[in-house]
Amino acid sequence: MIDEVEINNKNININYSDSGSVFIDSEISDQGLKTAKALKPWRKGPFEFKNIKIDAEWNSDIKYSIIRPHLNLINIKNKIVGDIGCNNGYYMFRMLEFEPEKIVGFDPSAIYKNQFDFVNKFLNIPENKIKFELLGVEHLPFYEHKFDVLLCLGVLYHRSDPIATLKILKNSLNEGGTLILDTFYIDGEEEVALFPNERYAKMRNIFFIPTISALRNWAKRARFQDFEIIAKVETTEQEQRKTEWMDWESLEDFLDPNDKTKTIEGYPAPKRVYVKFFNPFSIPIRDNEHERFKSM
Ligand SMILES: C[S@@+](CC[C@H](N)C(=O)[O-])C[C@H]1O[C@@H](n2cnc3c(N)ncnc32)[C@H](O)[C@@H]1O
Repeated sequence: MIDEVEINNKNININYSDSGSVFIDSEISDQGLKTAKALKPWRKGPFEFKNIKIDAEWNSDIKYSIIRPHLNLINIKNKIVGDIGCNNGYYMFRMLEFEPEKIVGFDPSAIYKNQFDFVNKFLNIPENKIKFELLGVEHLPFYEHKFDVLLCLGVLYHRSDPIATLKILKNSLNEGGTLILDTFYIDGEEEVALFPNERYAKMRNIFFIPTISALRNWAKRARFQDFEIIAKVETTEQEQRKTEWMDWESLEDFLDPNDKTKTIEGYPAPKRVYVKFFNPFSIPIRDNEHERFKSM
């Protein structure tokens, strides 16, 4: 199936149904299948083994297809990449195509770490190339190194202090580094954010949903100079739906059945903005400038 998304203000067709899996060139045994099923719910995917496809709730290839051209532009080859809120590592496995020096995923969920380990048991990629840390974004300041490129996808609206989160991400980037982030947004020119009462699309852990102007203000407060909008995308049932591997409620249960532009609580339905932030190189002070400061 082909879907249309707005990328760089252009409508682009993305073909995502017949590709977009993380392919694993092995067969799963009956015992392996039992294990994979015990690890449900699989939220991100798909993962395709020779004899079985793990069709996750999210067709994450849609998100990957949006960020992929930018990973290519940034040129992540030989770079140190972090995926903060990496879930089961779907994007980490996909990013290997660009041959980064190392990819580190942060996610505090044990079930997603188990899914990552399950897949990587078959792929057998060494830890110096791909590593899952059972940590949150709040642990980044204590991590052993910084990153050339960070992804922080679908995490900001889960944080009760989004500006502190952006500051942490900025401070974990090497000079000249790039952060690619997506978050829910609401339409409008005003510099405001929606703060849902208890639940948003049945989720309890959603805090601030900004307009793009408000997001820009957060970015400035976090000392990013500016950001570039990559894409604005509405979540559809092609991207998020119930499957055999996540057989509980999904998007169709989270939206108003009579008006899909609203959540079940009456808020604007989920839309995501994808942005690219740059951490500038610091400008070295020239010798004569030291002289100038001394004389002041
Ligand atoms: C909505 S999912 C997004 C997953 C993936 N990045 C994506 O965009 O498809 C949010 C993820 O953030 C993880 N998470 C929860 N608390 C976190 C934290 N404090 N720091 C980093 N990630 C966190 C969750 O376990 C979950 O995998």
